[in-house]
Amino acid sequence: MRLLVLGGTGFVGRAVVTEALHRRHHVTVLNRGHRPGHASVTTLVGDRTTPDGLTALHTGTWDAVVDTWSDAPRAVLDAATLLAGRAAHYTYISSRSVYAAPDTAPLSENTPVVDGTADSTDTTDYAATKRGGELAAQHFGDRVLLARAGLILGPHEDVGRLPWWLHRLARGGPTLAPGPRDLPLQYIDARDLAAFVLDAAADHRTGPYNLVSPPGHTTMGELLDTANTVTGGHADLRWTDPDTILAAGIQPWTELPIWLPPGHEAAYLHQGDVTRALAAGLRVRPVTDTVTDTWAWLRSRPAEPPHRHTRAALGLDPATEQALLS
Ligand SMILES: NC(=O)c1ccc[n+]([C@@H]2O[C@H](COP(=O)([O-])OP(=O)(O)OC[C@H]3O[C@@H](n4cnc5c(N)ncnc54)[C@H](OP(=O)(O)O)[C@@H]3O)[C@@H](O)[C@H]2O)c1
Repeated sequence: MRLLVLGGTGFVGRAVVTEALHRRHHVTVLNRGHRPGHASVTTLVGDRTTPDGLTALHTGTWDAVVDTWSDAPRAVLDAATLLAGRAAHYTYISSRSVYAAPDTAPLSENTPVVDGTADSTDTTDYAATKRGGELAAQHFGDRVLLARAGLILGPHEDVGRLPWWLHRLARGGPTLAPGPRDLPLQYIDARDLAAFVLDAAADHRTGPYNLVSPPGHTTMGELLDTANTVTGGHADLRWTDPDTILAAGIQPWTELPIWLPPGHEAAYLHQGDVTRALAAGLRVRPVTDTVTDTWAWLRSRPAEPPHRHTRAALGLDPATEQALLS
């Protein structure tokens, strides 16, 4: 395929580019050029927030476009409109955050979604922003795939969730492990997400797909045991019941990344229905691969995990953890 990736040098887009090159596709990326791109891709430079940001895309044809945009929908609208008629397929990397009725878990593609506005320049509400991006992408035409990703993990993760756990376990010692151990988790490795969207583009699949592992692909216990083993086995995991953690005022998801205790208002994020994606060929690699490869990536770069997208502080303050454990 001749593939155009809008973005392509961060986390998900980078994984798409890497997988596409592995498949010997011809890859073009468009971004501002702030980070080095892969030597084997054609790099076009443009700032999608500026009026002339898409000038480099005024010519060219592609078999598929993958748009990783996470900010205001207007940029997706501009790209989808410009590329309609010159590309055969458009994938927008969306999110399961678009669902409006999370208390009706498990979420399926038929669950109602929040309102969004295709030409919005507002980013204050993430769910509305992603839904607006979905509506904007549909200005491309009827060959649009909405990749509603769940929690995304893997090498180059720029939110810092799994990196925080890996650094914490590598530090070792008594370590707060949020229970229950058998808490089922859902996530998708960015590389599996990349493989799915490239397969789906080649197959001309359209419409929304929830893209995350089946519920219980792993558990909190397996994730932390694996991460502890991979980082050297220095941590003494102290499994603690959710009520004790919540009573201490510790925030699930942000202070203890990935963890959403049973009954939490966002617990549905680990209970989604992925029947449609599995039927379309979604494959999810073992948790060991994701954890091992993420640790290998972290060790190849400066020690502190990145926090680029995180609005709230990520990870648990050591003093708070120590106070609870003691
Ligand atoms: N993390 C999760 O758990 C999660 C879950 C569900 C959905 N998602 C979605 O997954 C997607 C993740 O995408 P990603 O950030 O990993 O994509 P990416 O394509 O790997 O990285 C972002 C790209 O956008 C480019 N970019 C940033 N600002 C730009 C601008 N003004 N004009 C042109 N290009 C610009 C960056 O390059 P330059 O800086 O050089 O311009 C970079 O290449 C998002 O849409 C997010 O909403 C994430």
